[in-house]
Amino acid sequence: MDVEREWWKEATVYQIYPRSFRDSDGDGVGDIPGITEKADYLDELGVDVVWLNPVYESPNADNGYDISDYRSIMDEFGTMDDWERLLAALHDRDIRLIMDLVVNHTSDEHEWFRKSRESKDSDYRDYYIWREGEDGGPPNNWEGAFGGSAWTYDERTGEYYLHLFDEKQPDLNWDNPEVRQRVYDMMEWWLEKGIDGFRMDVIDLVSKAEGLPDGDPDSGWVGNEHFMGGPHVHDYIREMYEEVLQGRDVMTVGEMPGATVDEAKQYLGPDGDGLNMIFHFEHVTLDYGEDGSRWTMGEWSLPEFKRVFTKWQTELEGEGWNSAYLGNHDWPRMVSRFGDDGVYRIESAKMLATMLFTLRGTTYVYQGDEIGMTNYPFESVEEVRDVSARNFVERKRSEGYDFDDVKDVVRHRSRDNARTPMQWSDEQYAGFTDGEPWIPVNPDHETVNVDEAMANEESIWHYYRNLIDLRHENDVLVYGEYDLLLEEDPDVYAYLRTLDDERALVVLNFTESTPTFTLPMDVTYDEAELMVGNYAVAGHDPRSFELRPYEARVYRLT
Ligand code: GLC
Repeated sequence: MDVEREWWKEATVYQIYPRSFRDSDGDGVGDIPGITEKADYLDELGVDVVWLNPVYESPNADNGYDISDYRSIMDEFGTMDDWERLLAALHDRDIRLIMDLVVNHTSDEHEWFRKSRESKDSDYRDYYIWREGEDGGPPNNWEGAFGGSAWTYDERTGEYYLHLFDEKQPDLNWDNPEVRQRVYDMMEWWLEKGIDGFRMDVIDLVSKAEGLPDGDPDSGWVGNEHFMGGPHVHDYIREMYEEVLQGRDVMTVGEMPGATVDEAKQYLGPDGDGLNMIFHFEHVTLDYGEDGSRWTMGEWSLPEFKRVFTKWQTELEGEGWNSAYLGNHDWPRMVSRFGDDGVYRIESAKMLATMLFTLRGTTYVYQGDEIGMTNYPFESVEEVRDVSARNFVERKRSEGYDFDDVKDVVRHRSRDNARTPMQWSDEQYAGFTDGEPWIPVNPDHETVNVDEAMANEESIWHYYRNLIDLRHENDVLVYGEYDLLLEEDPDVYAYLRTLDDERALVVLNFTESTPTFTLPMDVTYDEAELMVGNYAVAGHDPRSFELRPYEARVYRLT
């Protein structure tokens, strides 16, 4: 089979949310020296790339996704020298570093915006999107992702500015070539420092429809059809590629809340815009309610989940490369969401990991998933930190509900679930800090922690370590073609990976029941050998067997 080998296809990417990883100076906030302290830990786990969430200067309205200076490091996180030391420590261990590129918007405290809001004829006015109001209200009906209008009125000049996120995150005007050039210069500056690529924040939102028309009021995020995958998005990403990325040995992954698989072919394809991978949102929004919102609870079903993964696996074949992820700093913990964080926490965390490492695509591991960290049991609004969740609770309060009425949905949906401190030990603050942590530590750290996991050969941690090695050693798991088996099975997700004469059979039980797996007759082989599994298995016969709760097995078929 014709496959183009690339280091980033074979890589395991480990995502670090610096605020919650390790605090080295006792102020309760994770920092860069804290990450450097843990470089050996990352090396031992065996990851190839670290993706760092934003560490730039920021007033933290959205934890660093509101950047006030792209070329300096947030004080709470350390200094540029600290960052240089981190880069060196990772590179010394053959771990690459990719940085978050947040350029759909800046902070309102960024110099560009401060100058832009000064007057209508400021040289920077056109760096952002300013409009006059309509009928005493905002210019259109678009909403911000965290609730409320996407427009804020600025008294100084009597106009509104657009912000698709918080009001402290004004959107840059990408139609202005000078803005794009400033972004490319900044990217170049970071690349010159020796980084290995970028994760591009909401990069499919940068182009807004001409005339900024009203959006369909019933379409979830109101206005999205006018700013997701907008009219010039491909031109701009292609230009960025040609100006900055082309010819460099770096990796890129674009976060794209609105991307369909057809659009992905254009972002990724051989004659496309030059990105290596995207994060699409289809599987992580399956359990949204009917109104398309994070804050209404819907159900997800395994057949639907399989359909989404299968569509992306098969349709990108030869047209682009997938990224495999089940969570990050924006979603609840994957074991709580797609597995079972009670009795079968360990089994289901391992089963989900088995899937992430055996799909065709680059594997993304979010910090703490390697020890099976779970959602946080919120009891009061005081524990909620995230702007998005706080706005939701506020909205509900204004409608007359109290926290107890919304506690359940916050427990399931708040981004804070993924942002509680990394659990290093069973000490008071889980070995994250000697001070008072900025967000509460999950009480389950007494049993769920790195110390315990590393000491126990049967732990989730060792299972991850093993999977990372297995994927490095078996090209079939990286490059093999994907074929779904048992399409309609409501409990079992099974697929074959095939690379020339190598084959791997992956069988995953997504339930706590004990379904029987039967290998379809047309899958023939001479020998089968168990490559990995999360239970002890006697013998090597994959033809028919009863799966235990959340069991995962991978067989090599020859
Ligand atoms: C992305 C980030 C998220 C942030 C948003 C606005 O979705 O992952 O954390 O709030 O963009 O920058």
